[in-house]
Amino acid sequence: MQENVIPHNFSIGKSDRSKLKKHQPLLLWFTGLSGSGKSTIANAMEKYLASQGVHTYTLDGDNVRKGLNNNLSFTPEDRTENIRRIAEVANLMVDAGLVVLAAFVSPYLKDRENIRSIVGNANYFEIFVNTPISECEKRDVKGLYAKARAGEILNFTGVNAPYEAPAQPDIEIDTTKVTLEDSVEMIFNKIKSKLQLDNE
Ligand code: ADX
Repeated sequence: MQENVIPHNFSIGKSDRSKLKKHQPLLLWFTGLSGSGKSTIANAMEKYLASQGVHTYTLDGDNVRKGLNNNLSFTPEDRTENIRRIAEVANLMVDAGLVVLAAFVSPYLKDRENIRSIVGNANYFEIFVNTPISECEKRDVKGLYAKARAGEILNFTGVNAPYEAPAQPDIEIDTTKVTLEDSVEMIFNKIKSKLQLDNE
């Protein structure tokens, strides 16, 4: 089907766009259980990056599952497709020169490896928000754990669907042990050299 699709060579490329933005692009991928704190850390991280003059965009369940992916459920197949589409969108944004913050449960190892192959190893930085399920369940901000325990939600990650923990994430954060400010600092210290920020 794609044999007759021949990409056009455009004059402005990824490096031209990076030069204009004065930093390198990157995908910061937050994975972890619902309620683990992915979006909270991504939000604080984005605020800090913006204060440093970094061009960013955040992708998360609310802006993706209600729009682009509103035809997808939480079956294993649909989660795989959810993550694949997000990875392709993130890849375009990385090509555009942005630092993309993506916060998704993304429970399957093979799906996260697929993201890495889509955006390229050098552009992929994995943050495992490893808050214990007991704490996520205690927070239950959206009331979904209670519903899942009551049998009202099938395929709920951590309750009746699996979460495959990353074996070698770039950073692991347990939000019961590390403050939000420290989380941001830890991540920034690890990505600083990759961003090659030119603040002058
Ligand atoms: S993923 O597994 O496909 O990566 P995604 O991050 O897009 O999931 O969406 C997860 C969010 O959807 C959760 O934070 C939660 O609010 C909500 N949700 C609704 N149903 C489920 C479910 N069955 N499993 C996990 N999260 C669910």
